[in-house]
Amino acid sequence: MLRTNPSICQKIQMPFLEQHTVDLEMKRDDLIHPIVSGNKWRKLKFLLMDAQAKGCKTLVSMGGNWSNHLHALAYAGKELGFKTAAFVRAHEAQRLTPTLEDCRRWGMELIFTSRVDYAQLRHSFQWNHFTEQFPQSYWISEGGFSELAIKGVEEIGQEIEQQYDHIFVGTGSGATLVGLAKACPESLVTGVAAFSGADYLQEQLDPYLKPQTNWQIDTEHHCGGFAKSNSELESLIDEFHQHNDVQLDSVYNGKCLLAIKDAVEQGRINQGDKILMIHTGGLQGMR
Ligand SMILES: Cc1ncc(COP(=O)(O)O)c(C=O)c1O
Repeated sequence: MLRTNPSICQKIQMPFLEQHTVDLEMKRDDLIHPIVSGNKWRKLKFLLMDAQAKGCKTLVSMGGNWSNHLHALAYAGKELGFKTAAFVRAHEAQRLTPTLEDCRRWGMELIFTSRVDYAQLRHSFQWNHFTEQFPQSYWISEGGFSELAIKGVEEIGQEIEQQYDHIFVGTGSGATLVGLAKACPESLVTGVAAFSGADYLQEQLDPYLKPQTNWQIDTEHHCGGFAKSNSELESLIDEFHQHNDVQLDSVYNGKCLLAIKDAVEQGRINQGDKILMIHTGGLQGMR
């Protein structure tokens, strides 16, 4: 398995926390590994063990130009002796992004796919479709959403030593949110959607968590959509960096912090409450 570092809980300093007497700590999952960082290793660990146990030689997945998931998968796959391949939402003729350049350098086969085909693959991809193209292959869905990914995230629970009233995490597929809510039933876990129109996640994730109700989706802090940003978000990320010397990306973690700030300032967090934010790593969007 990959050699990983411990993920510490760091006390966070920000003026808005002091003003409202709220404690915020950040679980530095971004420090777990220099490349397979944040929730990436949490989600991939048991999937890769399963692929090994099943004797699969190739890992196949899908992602976009700046995919943290593909970047982590290409590296972890190489380290663990797998071949890797990915359907990417990009044009072959376009210059590769640094993220995809790394993926290719680490041996990942890139299969360029139009937006339309990609959207179709997302819904219709089944194991049978590609076993001919990739014999002995192991399919990992976009963003890695799966029971095994959730199981990997649940391991965070064993590392959290105190009880938090709230846990916040940036959300895409929702696997990380589900794992956290399962692992920390005493906390209210908020998944801050990184993209617009995420209301459907409530219904989609419910079967994984029922009868638990200690979770919610924040759909108000996507800042215009996936990978979109604005000046409020950028200045919060800068301010956070100045106070804590920790870099946040604007795709997931910056939006998560913005949601915490609004929740504190709008009185949705009680004075004296303890909040944990998970730094899910993944700075590919900033390259
Ligand atoms: C850095 C980062 N944070 C958060 C997420 C969202 O994780 P999930 O898809 O488990 O909701 C992702 C996507 O996997 C990510 O790359």
